[in-house]
Amino acid sequence: MKKFSITIAGGGSTFTPGIVLMLLDNLEKLPIDQIKFFDNDKERQKTIAGACRIILNEKAPEIRFTETTDPAEAFTDIDFVMAHIRSGKYAMREKDEKIPLKHGVVGQETCGPGGIAYGMRSIGDVLELVDFMETYSPDAWFLNYSNPAAIVAEATRKLRPNSKILNICDMPIGIEELMASAIGLESRKEMEVDYYGLNHFGWWTGIRDKEGNDLLPQIREHVSKFGYVTEDQSLQHADASWNNTFAKAKDVQALDPETVPNTYLKYYFYPDYEVAHSNPEVTRANEVMEGRETFVFGECRKIIENGTAADSGLHIDEHASYIVDLARAIAYNTKERMLLIVENNGAISNFEPTTMVEVPCIVGSNGPEPLVQGEIPRFQKGLMEQQAAVEKLVVEAWDEKSSQKLWQALTLSRIVPSAQVAKDILEDLQEANKGYWPELR
Ligand code: NAD
Ligand code: G6P
Ligand code: MN
Repeated sequence: MKKFSITIAGGGSTFTPGIVLMLLDNLEKLPIDQIKFFDNDKERQKTIAGACRIILNEKAPEIRFTETTDPAEAFTDIDFVMAHIRSGKYAMREKDEKIPLKHGVVGQETCGPGGIAYGMRSIGDVLELVDFMETYSPDAWFLNYSNPAAIVAEATRKLRPNSKILNICDMPIGIEELMASAIGLESRKEMEVDYYGLNHFGWWTGIRDKEGNDLLPQIREHVSKFGYVTEDQSLQHADASWNNTFAKAKDVQALDPETVPNTYLKYYFYPDYEVAHSNPEVTRANEVMEGRETFVFGECRKIIENGTAADSGLHIDEHASYIVDLARAIAYNTKERMLLIVENNGAISNFEPTTMVEVPCIVGSNGPEPLVQGEIPRFQKGLMEQQAAVEKLVVEAWDEKSSQKLWQALTLSRIVPSAQVAKDILEDLQEANKGYWPELR
């Protein structure tokens, strides 16, 4: 059996140890020859890599392991890139969240002005990684979950149309786990779903068990009462702020009781509520730095000090097994049904063909085959057209170095109340992102 070589780009990510443990747990499904970590922050990566080297030595010493900041070393002779970089790291996420809030506007990692600012940083960095892969391993596949995935996906569609890139998000998976638990199923894998939307901007229209029985009515009823709050807590989305988001899904679903929504729609439907319940001094970036980042780096340092991972608190990121499913689908032509972010091209029949949409796809060795979701209603169509235009304008702004288009993008975002506020936010974001954004004209 062929063994695969994988480069994890963003080796210093807080998610890297959980993903390595998950890969180790799935070796019989996806045998691995080597794992390489690549990051542009040598120091940050060193802590995560130091711990992962020990974990690998203890659990699977036959797997070759490299940590590097050299693209040639990182991208030569590999089958997959798993990319989860954060351009500008948490320091810039904090600014993405706090600058809009200062202007009374939602400050969020991937939605509204914060997501736009993050997109302007990510596009170039992700394209550079794709180019590294194509230079050194032209047959490899690029599995991207670097955010903001909607904007990154549009950039890859427009600027690297022939590259082997799959864009994926874990939010539907996380929500489906909660749905399964709400109706007493063991696993989300017992469900087959119909879904359409943009990334972080979509709706489930059908949910069936493997025998074809309709599960949506039960799930709709749960969501209309409790949102996605269930007795089983999500391991990945466990903080209080995530619980609030899952509860708020109840109000989001009220807009279209026939379907059940992605949690991120709350930022577009209830921005006033969101701002009123935000603290401009302490945002999610602070929560993550004090929580996940401190925990993961603390555990990694302990492993390095002790020279063993024997009693480490790091856990398998079980939910991230979707990444193994995706790699397996490509490697073994499994034809697994998965939600991916792909060019619409008729999957939503009454929607612009060149927009990157999130829909179920059958994934095999040649990539994804999107499944037709048919016509969508006027409400969703209107929302999606506006949001897709924002995302396309950001990519055009980046490509053409146009501050005019970036101002248009910010103005068009539902979350921003006026062109004046958009302009004020743009000035602050531009100042904060010097050295990360292209120089705008
Ligand atoms: P993190 O800051 O801990 O890790 C990101 C790493 O990327 C850092 O070590 C950083 O140095 C590195 N990096 C930044 N720019 C780089 C570049 N140009 N080249 C190489 N490395 C670079 O962040 P995190 O919280 O662990 O999240 C990582 C990423 O995964 C983020 O983009 C996050 O939004 C994304 N994410 C996506 C999903 C999804 O659903 N698609 C789910 C979870 C996380
Ligand atoms: C979900 C989304 C990701 C996002 C993450 C934020 O998983 O799908 O796209 O990055 O939440 O989580 P955090 O814990 O960093 O706020
Ligand atoms: Mn996501």
